[in-house]
Amino acid sequence: MPTKPAKRSPRMKAGHRAEETLRVLISHSRIHTRVRQMAQEIRRDFPNEPMHLVGVLKGSILFLADLARELGGEVSFDFISVSSYGKGMDSTGEVKMIKDLDVSIEGRSVLVVEDILDTGLTLKYLLRLFEGRKPKHLRVAVLLDKVERRIADVRADYVGFVIPNEFVVGYGLDYDERYRNLPDVCVVRLGPRGKTKVEA
Ligand code: PRP
Repeated sequence: MPTKPAKRSPRMKAGHRAEETLRVLISHSRIHTRVRQMAQEIRRDFPNEPMHLVGVLKGSILFLADLARELGGEVSFDFISVSSYGKGMDSTGEVKMIKDLDVSIEGRSVLVVEDILDTGLTLKYLLRLFEGRKPKHLRVAVLLDKVERRIADVRADYVGFVIPNEFVVGYGLDYDERYRNLPDVCVVRLGPRGKTKVEA
């Protein structure tokens, strides 16, 4: 049986309180600059097109909110929720629908907005699902791309940052539902015990 890919989170030993050390990987100011550039790239490709942004809950919401403000023009939103990992830390490779879109994407110019592209299994599932619904255009914007983790043969049309295979939190990304509200993207490391420390 093939080895399952590790989820983005490192394992915690039972009975240990983790010491979590956060190191800023991408500052909010770099994110802001890059999101603005990405919006310009998208608008260059779709100058006068109403863009229908499809955010993949929950990690994408801060990126979607900032990207939407930078895009200008006619923009609408919808959200989908899927799960590829269940409750465990290892990927099963299965993607399950938790919440479907509210409105049809037929004939629309759809931009799937993701916080992170990791194994690509989630995006592969979403693209297959959405292609069957006959959008006018279907493009993908991801803030972070962990290229070296890819299993599925998928790519994003617009990529904010290619990052190394580190466990990242912040700007929408979580560890056990925490840290989504950090303005920066940070690498989190777990130690044997203690409190969360933030390094400059
Ligand atoms: C993350 C991310 C993508 C998916 C990417 O979601 O938002 O949807 O994982 O991983 P993949 O490329 O290996 O499929 P997560 O399951 O952590 O949920 P969340 O957005 O609610 O935190």
